[in-house]
Amino acid sequence: METLILKVDRSSEGYDKLDKAARIIKEGGLVAFPTETVYGLGGDAKNPRSCKKIYRAKGRPSDNPLIVHIAEFSQLEDIVEEVPVSARELAKEFWPGPLTMILKKNKVIPRQTTGGLDTIAIRMPDDEIARELILRSECLIAAPSANVSGKPSPTIAEHVYKDLSGRIEAVIDGGQAIIGLESTIIDLTSDIPTILRPGAITKEMLERVIGRVDIDASLIGEGEDIRPKAPGMKYKHYAPKAELTIVEGNISKVVVYVNSKVIANKDRGLVTGVIASSENVTRYSAEVVKTIGSSEDEEELAHNLYSILREFDETNVSEIYSESFKGDGISKALMNRLLKAAGHKVVNADKEAITRIIFAGKNGSSRSPMAAYILKSMDATKDYEILSRGILVQFPEPLNPKVEAVLLSNGIEVGDFHAVELTDNDINSSTIIFTMEESHRDKIIGKLEKANEENTFVLPAYVGDELDILNPYGGGLQLYGLCFEALKDTLNKLVNILNQER
Ligand code: TXA
Ligand code: MG
Repeated sequence: METLILKVDRSSEGYDKLDKAARIIKEGGLVAFPTETVYGLGGDAKNPRSCKKIYRAKGRPSDNPLIVHIAEFSQLEDIVEEVPVSARELAKEFWPGPLTMILKKNKVIPRQTTGGLDTIAIRMPDDEIARELILRSECLIAAPSANVSGKPSPTIAEHVYKDLSGRIEAVIDGGQAIIGLESTIIDLTSDIPTILRPGAITKEMLERVIGRVDIDASLIGEGEDIRPKAPGMKYKHYAPKAELTIVEGNISKVVVYVNSKVIANKDRGLVTGVIASSENVTRYSAEVVKTIGSSEDEEELAHNLYSILREFDETNVSEIYSESFKGDGISKALMNRLLKAAGHKVVNADKEAITRIIFAGKNGSSRSPMAAYILKSMDATKDYEILSRGILVQFPEPLNPKVEAVLLSNGIEVGDFHAVELTDNDINSSTIIFTMEESHRDKIIGKLEKANEENTFVLPAYVGDELDILNPYGGGLQLYGLCFEALKDTLNKLVNILNQER
């Protein structure tokens, strides 16, 4: 089937195009339409065949009930057993709007629509196109989000078209969904009204109207073993193709952590993506950095999330790192969706921050201690523990005398020193290891269990230099002096990388 695109402008004349869409629904077909939250995939809620088509078009499990969309309050009274006072009060305050209420259904709506449940989810959307479509179709419109199951919900008509073209009769293009995240779902059939899905209408906003509101346990306790009450919340959702990790903590540490991952990926020929707030976007060195919005503007962040997740699927990134977004409003819903997209993978950058730097060389008595002593002498490195190690140390050799001489002549005092072999005991999650040569890096990674491509790097490559640090072994003092200069230059760059964010 060819999917019609019906572009509707938001003047009342533009609405005439909706008659065609209304007819499709009335005749049992499917039309995707804009709402203020996300685009919905609509069919006649009273027609079991329409609902079956919805499940098929989305590839959605049929135990996952649909939301019935209404345009007038009286339509609610037609399809539920009774309208509790709380529903009346919430409707008065928040309808039309991004709130879905779960109530006891009567027999008017078939079980196919509600996934076999005897409760029903109902929402009156704020979008005029949506309400006009409901009225003109003379139907109640059952509609899940208009994405293929498992993809982010669509916030523009193009998203819908990409997912569903050829599978549905029409898409109404009414521009961008203003909110960009799905509605808040509140269950009014339990003793205490319970939020099953967070959205733009927050717990506090609901409590101001009806008093105590609970949050479904599966939403608080990461949902691993607790079964969510909204069947749809149990499915893995919104996952982009690349692996997504949320990095929380002090923003400076977040940037350092993410940038170290970018370098590690680059080494392996992999491309990294970042989801950044506009305030910090320039601080990331990833190949693909997407601005989700200002961290001060929760609504903007929420509005952009799904588009960004979809955009990443069009790139060749293999890992995505996202900042974490905290706030009291719609940020809660945003984080709920972001956590799902990340499969709850969260890293705390404060804990992961690098605190120990190890320079490692062949026998640990020449270039690596030189690097360690130089770095220690620099400003702004006092927060780091700086060590030097050898890959194979058979005797605890003293410092190479020429290294000592060059350091001294540059005003760097050398204390008691003997070479120490690098072992797994030296390495923890806050350790970063630098070698002067690639072969040393490979040896270390091959030899030690805890050394890997994420924590062991070739120093010059790490700071973006193309040349290796020259090996002065066998040369005269002058050569050691040149080595000192080269190292100092490289370490200055390292300090900039490590400290730019402190
Ligand atoms: O903002 C929205 O709500 C959008 C727009 C299109 O209105 N719709 C939407 O629908 O997000 P959908 O199908 O993607 O999500 C509906 C959620 C699912 O998690 C489903 O399990 C839950 O609502 N739900 C529906 N009926 C329910 C019921 N009777 N009891 C518990 N959960 C229910
Ligand atoms: Mg959905």
